[in-house]
Amino acid sequence: MKAGLTRRMLIASGLLALVISAAFAVLLASVADLRASERSARHSEEVVAAANRLERLVVDVEAGERGFLATGQDSRLELWRNGQAALPDQAAELQRLVADNPEQLGMARQIETDATSYIRDYSTPLIETAMRDLGAARSQAASSEGARRIDAIRAEFDRLVGAEHEQAVAGQHRSGAAGRQAIAAAATGLAGSVVLIVVFTGYLSRVVIGPVRRVAAMADRLAGGDLGARLPERSVGEIGVLERSFNTMARSLQANRDELAASRTRIVAAADQARRRIERDLHDGVQQQLVSLALELRAVEASSPPELSAPLAGAIDALVGATDDLRELSRGIHPAILSEGGLPAALRALARRSAVPVELTVEVPERLPEQVEVAVYYVVSEALTNAAKHAEASVVHVEVRKHDGRLHLSVHDDGIGGATAEHGSGLIGLIDRVEALDGTVDIASPVGEGTTLVADLPIEEP
Ligand SMILES: Nc1ncnc2c1ncn2[C@@H]1O[C@H](COP(=O)(O)OP(=O)(O)OP(=O)(O)O)[C@@H](O)[C@H]1O
Ligand SMILES: [Mg+2]
Repeated sequence: MKAGLTRRMLIASGLLALVISAAFAVLLASVADLRASERSARHSEEVVAAANRLERLVVDVEAGERGFLATGQDSRLELWRNGQAALPDQAAELQRLVADNPEQLGMARQIETDATSYIRDYSTPLIETAMRDLGAARSQAASSEGARRIDAIRAEFDRLVGAEHEQAVAGQHRSGAAGRQAIAAAATGLAGSVVLIVVFTGYLSRVVIGPVRRVAAMADRLAGGDLGARLPERSVGEIGVLERSFNTMARSLQANRDELAASRTRIVAAADQARRRIERDLHDGVQQQLVSLALELRAVEASSPPELSAPLAGAIDALVGATDDLRELSRGIHPAILSEGGLPAALRALARRSAVPVELTVEVPERLPEQVEVAVYYVVSEALTNAAKHAEASVVHVEVRKHDGRLHLSVHDDGIGGATAEHGSGLIGLIDRVEALDGTVDIASPVGEGTTLVADLPIEEP
């Protein structure tokens, strides 16, 4: 089964969320890396500063010691003493700072041990000697022991600071890499999201907006009466179901309409046939019998005694009158003249018999398909009868023309107007008759402005 639109939508949104969250995850990780690198760089600076301060104390001790040896002044011992006093705390501070790095911690401890040893085993005995005998102390100091020890301690400081520098440089590299990674992640996330959104929007417009527009256009055509309209059934999911349902609906509407039109046509044709049969039965049967009866009576009248000739003549006149009435009646039921003389002749006969004067224009061939002739005849007949019955008109214009394979008919009277198909059976009947032939009828009858009936019928050539 094809995935529904909701599922597709969810998949697309999920994909978008995935890309964005992946980019953010990398971005966050890179930012955390950056901060860690920054912290470690700051820490290295602190270590280097603490080491420098400790080294300065060692240097102070050595400088105080030398100053005293050179001058013998007590004031120089101040520096020497202060350096010694501050040294343990500063050494502890340095060790605290490098506590998390065993190698650096070892080195810091070694520095403290060596500095303490220098003071205890070398510098203090030397100063004590100098206090007693400056010359002896000076010659003792001439040996290179003190300088060697101090150089060793300085070398240790250099190693510790060098190692810290290396760490700082490595941290800088790491933070550079993390920064580049963050930028790459942000750029990739952004580009990926844009691409996905563009693709997603294009996809939505292709599978939803386009088809919905087509469905709307088709609904419009259906509403306008074009029941032959169909949609291409190529969409997926719910839109595909919509397209198929629409087509099914249109097909069933069209089938119903065709069926309705066919049944109307059958009903009208059956009624016409019945009228024609009645007319023929009257014409060929009763009418002929009445005519023969009149002829026989005339023969009897010729040879009858004079006292019978007056009543016989009266009876014969009554019989002829009844025959005429019957002929008139049967012409209304189905106009024989239509079958015999065609539409122009039948319309002229109608116009002649109309109670309101008629201006007739007929521009059609002698013969048209029978159902068209019959329809036009009855429409004109009903319109003329209505004009006489309701319109109070002085003239009626009747025009019948054939144009572009269709028959156009208009009947206009200059009467009181106000005609409506709702009140009687005549107008409804003629609308049914014309629509059964797939034609249209339009009645315009504003009050006081007369009535115009326009009909339009397709002609199938016989
Ligand atoms: N030409 C007209 N001018 C004015 N009013 C009209 C005209 N034609 C019809 N009408 C009005 O419209 C109504 C409906 O006409 P319709 O032909 O359907 O019925 P009817 O003539 O009254 O009866 P039926 O035709 O069944 O004998 C009429 O009753 C009449 O009031
Ligand atoms: Mg009528």
